[in-house]
Amino acid sequence: MLGTYSRPGFVISHGNGVYLYDTDGKKYLDFVSGIAVNAFGYNDKQTQKALLEQSQRLWHCSNLYYTEPQVQLAELLVKKTFADKVFFCNSGTEAIEAAIKFARKWASATRSKEDFQIITLNRSFHGRTYGALAATGQPKFWENFGPMLTGFEFADFNDLESVKKRISDKTVAVLVEPVQGEGGVYPATQEFLQGLRELCEENNCLLILDEIQCGFGRTGTFCAYEQYGILPDMMTVAKPIAGGLPLGAVLMNDNIASHIKPGDHGTTFGGGPLVTFVAHDILKRISRQSFLDSVKEKSDYIFAQLNELQGKIPDIVSVRGKGLMIGIELSVDPQTVINKCIADGLLICKTGGNAVRFLPPLIVEKKHIDEAVKKFTNVLNKVGKKDAEKS
Ligand SMILES: Cc1ncc(COP(=O)(O)O)c(C=O)c1O
Repeated sequence: MLGTYSRPGFVISHGNGVYLYDTDGKKYLDFVSGIAVNAFGYNDKQTQKALLEQSQRLWHCSNLYYTEPQVQLAELLVKKTFADKVFFCNSGTEAIEAAIKFARKWASATRSKEDFQIITLNRSFHGRTYGALAATGQPKFWENFGPMLTGFEFADFNDLESVKKRISDKTVAVLVEPVQGEGGVYPATQEFLQGLRELCEENNCLLILDEIQCGFGRTGTFCAYEQYGILPDMMTVAKPIAGGLPLGAVLMNDNIASHIKPGDHGTTFGGGPLVTFVAHDILKRISRQSFLDSVKEKSDYIFAQLNELQGKIPDIVSVRGKGLMIGIELSVDPQTVINKCIADGLLICKTGGNAVRFLPPLIVEKKHIDEAVKKFTNVLNKVGKKDAEKS
């Protein structure tokens, strides 16, 4: 396998609930959940049932034809969100590619072919393919892979003035994550997101939200934008949507959808009947108010513990995030902390800055949170002591 990841030395064999097991039988409490994918953890019986049921009916037949699962999933998404129309693809990065194309098509139909500029934010992450990469506000991801797709301008996150300075008569859209994930887990402020909505209105541009990581229950509401009292024009989603099967989607209003014609975009696999059938079941469950309330409750529980821990452990610089999307900025090396947590049977992952990230499955229980915080505390106590000894 190509070395695009620096993986630890163990091999994952199987999972159950919030736990993963390696081939030596070691058990790991998983606070990564496939990077915000496995909302229902592992070995989820209902997902297995859905998978089996649809696999015995149909799993691929081309987007040349309608299938019932994709229509039903589109209907559910339209019912539960701002959207009028949905485009299905296979991943987050593909959703971003499609959103860029749809925004530019909208602009060429309603404004001018010369208008194609999209403002995105510093520290953002939108994916690894060329359009999404060019939109990503972190040069380390693209600087050795030029030339990039042109037409992107970067402004500072949570700084409305910075966006205002970059907006011009060529700007057709602003693309923003309501909670920056890979950049370090930074939630947008109310003022910023509301300000962007107004700015887009004033300048006849589209507000595109990237909810690939923060969407579908992760922040305690079905979509993160609900917490800001605004509506986007277009939104990209992926990660948890199909319970770990590859599926992405672009949701949009009719103002954009009415300009997209047959042949404008397409995909062989995107939104096939197997993944959309599973996704329908996953999203029905995630969108239940009782489920979302439980995410909020567990979020309050873990934030209370981590905030308390910050008061006790000086190596915790800050705790930030929303729902069960949590970034912890450290003054010690995050990779050392991650490695030691792995050794102690806790999986957490890195994010931007000097931070580690907690992304537990949404079905996590308070006892698992207690277990994770305990392991994390022990590791920080050990790492902190070592650092103190060294200096
Ligand atoms: C906010 C955001 N956008 C886009 C992507 C890209 O998604 P994918 O890895 O499915 O291509 C990610 C992945 O981490 C993400 O967090």
